[in-house]
Amino acid sequence: MKVQLQVWRQSGVSAPPHLQLYSIDAESNWSVLDCLEAVSRREDPSLSYRDNCFSAVCGDCGLRANGREILACANGVSKFPADADGVIHIELRPLRNHPVIRDLAVDRDRFFDRQTAVCAFFAISGYHEFVEGAAMQAAQSVTTCLSCGICDSACEAYTVRADFFGPAALAWTLRFAQDPREEALAQRRSVLDSPRGLSGCVDCGACSDVCPEAIPIHEMIRAAR
Ligand code: SF4
Ligand code: SF4
Ligand code: FES
Repeated sequence: MKVQLQVWRQSGVSAPPHLQLYSIDAESNWSVLDCLEAVSRREDPSLSYRDNCFSAVCGDCGLRANGREILACANGVSKFPADADGVIHIELRPLRNHPVIRDLAVDRDRFFDRQTAVCAFFAISGYHEFVEGAAMQAAQSVTTCLSCGICDSACEAYTVRADFFGPAALAWTLRFAQDPREEALAQRRSVLDSPRGLSGCVDCGACSDVCPEAIPIHEMIRAAR
């Protein structure tokens, strides 16, 4: 199967970007990440991108393919449209709302800084009873988060408010705020009610749409307002 990749090339955050064309022969079961690996190993070792687990676990390989945020390792090339000659065309760009380090590799510090700012970890002490039923369901829905940051890439709220906490940080805050074991509820509430919190969401719905773990982030935000 012929695949043509138009790949974003950029040597640094302020360098002018351009798209570079790579044509490769791919197997029908290859992922987008397999194609990048083929380019990097056989054709152009200077191409930069992030990967780690190759199995949709680490969250490192987020990028935009034909305008949509995806995990490159979890999306097969065969599902992209082919032209009349059977050639698949995919345009690959880095995640938005993250500074580009080089090519498709982005700086994820800002994303993790927002997790730190909202204290995206439990504040509990001592022994607690098991949590069951609806409370456990709410907690589990966010526990699968890969911290891939692709919801933050798709989020339109940053164009209005650059210091918005973002969908992932708010999802984690809601996850702890709704857990009966959580002891820092006042702190959770101050995050959610701050100008950087729930009110910053512009209801575009993109976070829920692109999340590879199908976490209903937008629905959680709407329900919490
Ligand atoms: S629904 Fe809100 S939080 Fe989610 S991507 Fe859109 S603006 Fe961002
Ligand atoms: S909520 Fe979904 S899209 Fe956002 S960081 Fe977690 S797994 Fe990725
Ligand atoms: S390489 Fe780990 S999620 Fe894709």
